[in-house]
Amino acid sequence: MRPLNSGIAGPLRGKTDLPGDKSISHRALMIGAAAVGETTISNLLEGEDVLHTAAALRVLGAEIARDEPGLWHVYGRGVGGLAEPAQVLDMGNSGTGARLIIGLLATHSFVSCLTGDASLTARPMGRVAEPLERMGARIVARSECRLPLAVVGTSDPVPIEYRLPVASAQVKSAILLAALNTPGRSTVIEPVGTRDHTELMLSHFGVDLAVAELEDGARAITLTGQPEIEGRTVRVPGDLSSAAFPAVAALVIPGSEITLAGVGVNPLRAGLIETLGEMGADITISNRREEAGEPVADITLRTSALRGVEVPAERAPRMIDEYPILAVAAAFAKGTTTMGGLSELRIKEGDRLAATARGLEASGVEVERGEDALVVHGTGGAPGGGAAIETGYDHRIAMAFLVLGMAAKKPVRIDDGTVIDTSFPGFVELMNRLGGSIVAEGEAP
Ligand code: S3P
Repeated sequence: MRPLNSGIAGPLRGKTDLPGDKSISHRALMIGAAAVGETTISNLLEGEDVLHTAAALRVLGAEIARDEPGLWHVYGRGVGGLAEPAQVLDMGNSGTGARLIIGLLATHSFVSCLTGDASLTARPMGRVAEPLERMGARIVARSECRLPLAVVGTSDPVPIEYRLPVASAQVKSAILLAALNTPGRSTVIEPVGTRDHTELMLSHFGVDLAVAELEDGARAITLTGQPEIEGRTVRVPGDLSSAAFPAVAALVIPGSEITLAGVGVNPLRAGLIETLGEMGADITISNRREEAGEPVADITLRTSALRGVEVPAERAPRMIDEYPILAVAAAFAKGTTTMGGLSELRIKEGDRLAATARGLEASGVEVERGEDALVVHGTGGAPGGGAAIETGYDHRIAMAFLVLGMAAKKPVRIDDGTVIDTSFPGFVELMNRLGGSIVAEGEAP
């Protein structure tokens, strides 16, 4: 436990890079491990979640070396070439790491055991187990299909066509990674588009993967299995989900102007930028480019008078991780912000819908919470703040409320800053470099 306090901050100013994208970092490591030869990854996120994935892949026989901060090499074992793990794979706090690796292992003909921390072992894995069992694997798990669990991989995988019952990039990706070592063509149909980093990364490695739009607007992703793929060079873009925290801080702290350089702006991730734009945020996107198939840009933000908006429920998959910080932005906006379609938010690192509502209430913000909706009534002024937040293993709750504390009337305390390292190592230093005011309890500011 490392309590942190954030209090009123001066203007945020300057330009900064962001740590690598968490979703893309997991995929670069896993697909690198399934390729033959060397994959070089730069700007890999060195957060706890990704480090757990790297450690698990090492246990599975991939050689993984770190040259310098962010620069990693993976010497892969080829499609279907991972080795039976002699130890339990500990996926830490990472739902993405766990679900994607379960997919990869489902079509390797050996048994693997997985576990994780108190948050991860409470999260549902049935959503990946169900399609993977149709492909021939067996998943033996605790009640409600939770970790610890064993993946009994199949030696005789069958391709499937599967329509996702929930809008989840993790489920889609688990199936695609299982399909990599399945003969023939497997298809995943997603009624609502979710982040397509797996598709882009597999294509970058030369996998035969086609995306078609169906008549009902759904996306059908078809992968031809058992290709021979070779290592590639991957530059991981800055993580938009991490950029969201300094971005909102700059919008609500008076007199700020910051530029976040080299951030991934994949349209299937960029719902927050769209929403903040609708709220009246002064945002400029420049220097658009492409890295390893992913769109990247620089984002400049200036302090803005935000107004409340209605966020369409169908936008949720494109900004699912950003609701806690969006709700903080809404607390500073004038008027009511309505967010719907949030059922998935309740089964993240914790119940993020409840944690966000509780934290806002404790900060003097008027909120209404429904089963899958959150309504925030902003006054257009700074909220009271003064809250003591229990982070409950949730890095995004920790960061969202530290941002609130930097522009609220009274400081905010979070009980544990160590959880931030799961996705954003160096968060406190980066925010303070820009002009923020986050201090560890008991240390001088
Ligand atoms: C992720 C997908 C999302 C997101 C998570 C990362 C991914 O989860 O919340 O942080 O990398 O595929 P779901 O697919 O469960 O919505």
